[in-house]
Amino acid sequence: MKYVSTRGAAAGSSFREALFSGYAVDGGLFMPEEVPRVSADTLRQWRALSYPQLVQNICSLYISPDEIPVQELGALIERALSRFAHSEVVTFKRLRDGLNVLELFHGPTMAFKDLAMCCLAQFILYFLQKEDKHVTIVVGTSGDTGGSAIASLRGAKRADVVVLLPAGRCSRVQELHMTTAMEENVHVFTVEGSSDDLDEPIRRLFADSEFTSRHGVISINSINWGRVLVQVAHHFYAYFRCTDGGGGGGGAEVEEEMPTVEVVVPTGAAGNAAAGCVARWMGLPIRLLCAVNQNDVVHRALRSGDFSVDGAVKPSLASAIDIQVPYNMERVFHLCSDADTALVRDVMTRFYESGQANLPATLQTRTGSALRRPRPPSSRRWLSASAFASRSTPRSQRCAASPSAASPCAAATTGTRCSATQWHASPAGVRRPPPKRNVDARTAARTAARTAARTAARTTARSARKLRLATYGAEEVFSMHTCTAVISVC
Ligand SMILES: Cc1ncc(COP(=O)(O)O)c(C=O)c1O
Repeated sequence: MKYVSTRGAAAGSSFREALFSGYAVDGGLFMPEEVPRVSADTLRQWRALSYPQLVQNICSLYISPDEIPVQELGALIERALSRFAHSEVVTFKRLRDGLNVLELFHGPTMAFKDLAMCCLAQFILYFLQKEDKHVTIVVGTSGDTGGSAIASLRGAKRADVVVLLPAGRCSRVQELHMTTAMEENVHVFTVEGSSDDLDEPIRRLFADSEFTSRHGVISINSINWGRVLVQVAHHFYAYFRCTDGGGGGGGAEVEEEMPTVEVVVPTGAAGNAAAGCVARWMGLPIRLLCAVNQNDVVHRALRSGDFSVDGAVKPSLASAIDIQVPYNMERVFHLCSDADTALVRDVMTRFYESGQANLPATLQTRTGSALRRPRPPSSRRWLSASAFASRSTPRSQRCAASPSAASPCAAATTGTRCSATQWHASPAGVRRPPPKRNVDARTAARTAARTAARTAARTTARSARKLRLATYGAEEVFSMHTCTAVISVC
């Protein structure tokens, strides 16, 4: 498998080159030159695989055995995922009436990013060991990427990790994950401004490929193809578990027998959404739906082609998706434009230079059918994505929809659902009167889970057998803002 920049340069790059380059020389992101189509037979075989096996099978389509032999690839993935709290690594929970949840939070920092990050770290260390080299890894974080990177690389002899975190915008536990690592290879700095503000110098740093290669500087944010690649497996795994025992799974016409599943993906930098698109392009019958909060660039791009930054990042309780620069949309545009690199370059250059780009109509239509946008709340009920908090939520993380509120978003404090779409629809942002503030976080999380299940049941009943999903904030015991992708079956 060879890689190319979304903007046309660096054709014929190896996986190793994509892994170690961050941005390509022309400022684009690496994508496979061709997304492999998965046959019905393969899909049937993959259904029986465990999550780590599935990651291995998918990765082996994108990593040539000349670069990492299959057996070693398996061992790296096995090692990466061995520290997860659950033996299955990723768990799939059926709620009721076709509503399902993929739990991606069993990793060392409970962020969904742990999954791809642990594997990516192993891939990087593999090449460094083989080539007897050392790198400096620069990570910008809005909260959980930093902790996840540190957990995956702390103590590594061949890699220093430099993390930049936005001061006052991460939760206490996220900060602790980053600032309590005492290993000599971990260096953590707070930065004034938002995570988008700190992404900008990082982007410029990686635009200077001469500098980064001279000093061995690499990125493991989701600009790195390795992160997106591993996340492709989430979508396959979710799909297989979701449709186990119902339709599909046997026979030559397996593809026709496979029902379409709708996956709702919390969307910040759009890495997971891009991974879902890659899965779709590989032939997985999923519909993707992006869930955003008040940082809604992707929503506006899909609704009207208005791909533009809307001022500064608006802090919310779901800090992991507080992003105004969804840079992985570049990968989505590359797929949806049939690799029209000139078009992608034009759109992204305008976006980065002026903060605003109107998508050409064809690109908007195609992107809109790859990543559907949520319907307004009147026609569709949402479960919450990641908006639960504990008493320790800092003031800066208040629901931006109710900035004058004296407490964090009321819905969050109680564990009531508080969806991105509702925030758009209602300036107050919160439907219920402010609750008592000192509700215990664990109780809030339980209440939230119960509310999610009840709403799920009501929602699905109302919409007959139509697939519906959403996301729910999982174990929000520490005021971490971990999301869990949720899936439902048609
Ligand atoms: C499951 C899941 N997907 C996606 C995201 C958002 O990240 P990105 O848009 O960069 O994939 C989150 C954020 O917490 C998440 O929990």
